[in-house]
Amino acid sequence: MQHLESISALRAQIRDWRLAGKRIGFVPTMGNLHAGHFRLVDIARQHADVVIASIFVNPMQFGQNEDLDKYPRTLAADMQGLTAHGCAALFTPTPAIMYPRGLDVQSFVEVPKLGDLHCGASRAGHFRGVSTVVAKLFNLVQPDVACFGQKDYQQLAIIRQMVADLSFPIEIIGVPTERAADGLALSSRNGYLTAEERAKAPALYQILQQLKQQILAAAAPYRELEQNAKAALQAAGFIPDYLNISHRQTLALANDANEPKVILAAAKLGSTRLIDNLEV
Ligand code: PAJ
Repeated sequence: MQHLESISALRAQIRDWRLAGKRIGFVPTMGNLHAGHFRLVDIARQHADVVIASIFVNPMQFGQNEDLDKYPRTLAADMQGLTAHGCAALFTPTPAIMYPRGLDVQSFVEVPKLGDLHCGASRAGHFRGVSTVVAKLFNLVQPDVACFGQKDYQQLAIIRQMVADLSFPIEIIGVPTERAADGLALSSRNGYLTAEERAKAPALYQILQQLKQQILAAAAPYRELEQNAKAALQAAGFIPDYLNISHRQTLALANDANEPKVILAAAKLGSTRLIDNLEV
């Protein structure tokens, strides 16, 4: 696997692939890679001739009191895993490369209607940081296809909207969530959990599954079902942030039994914030 640490090295590699007529697949990440990330690489390989991943812990998408400094950085293991999954190149820019004038940039990409809901409501500026860095990475890598996980359901919806709104010539593929055997969605942040918290963590997905059955059985109005599920999260030791039965495309609160729906949830376990979702 090629390790590209500068924009010039990246551009040279992309140019070579283009000249050889290769279709380029892209998997942007923040590193500390797990089976969920590697699944994105596997799927990208099915849709492209060559796959390039990026690892960049993007300071612009972290809030003041968030985990930017302690975010796990495990480059050697990440490179081994990417190589094993047939990734052709890895781009690892520094913050100075991505933000040569510092974080006080003047140009952003914002997707406000989707970005202010759910996670956006409790993480001000988070999705603006995500859409801005993904737009920059798209401009640098210029892939034909890019893969994103359904684990970050709202992020995927925002990227799809951005690509449509700004005419990026990139096919976006959503990849199903990879889970541990007990149902917990894999996440780099799971490593923050104590053994005791890790044992409690699968309750989040279990509660989403129970709620899905209640929705299908039309057990009660959605707002009431949401409140009950939040109470169940609390009883299981979580501090719920949000738990919303939403419309799959707009992500606005759903009311209609016939709408395609998704349950979106975020909750804290100790100091670790977990998110998960389930389509209904
Ligand atoms: P990161 O959290 O590293 O995730 C990178 C990609 O892996 C995202 O598309 C995410 O949805 C996907 N992913 C994470 N856990 C997954 C799982 N259990 N199953 C399937 N896919 C999973 O998301 C980001 O980084 C950043 O916001 C980024 C898009 C790179 C922009 O900085």
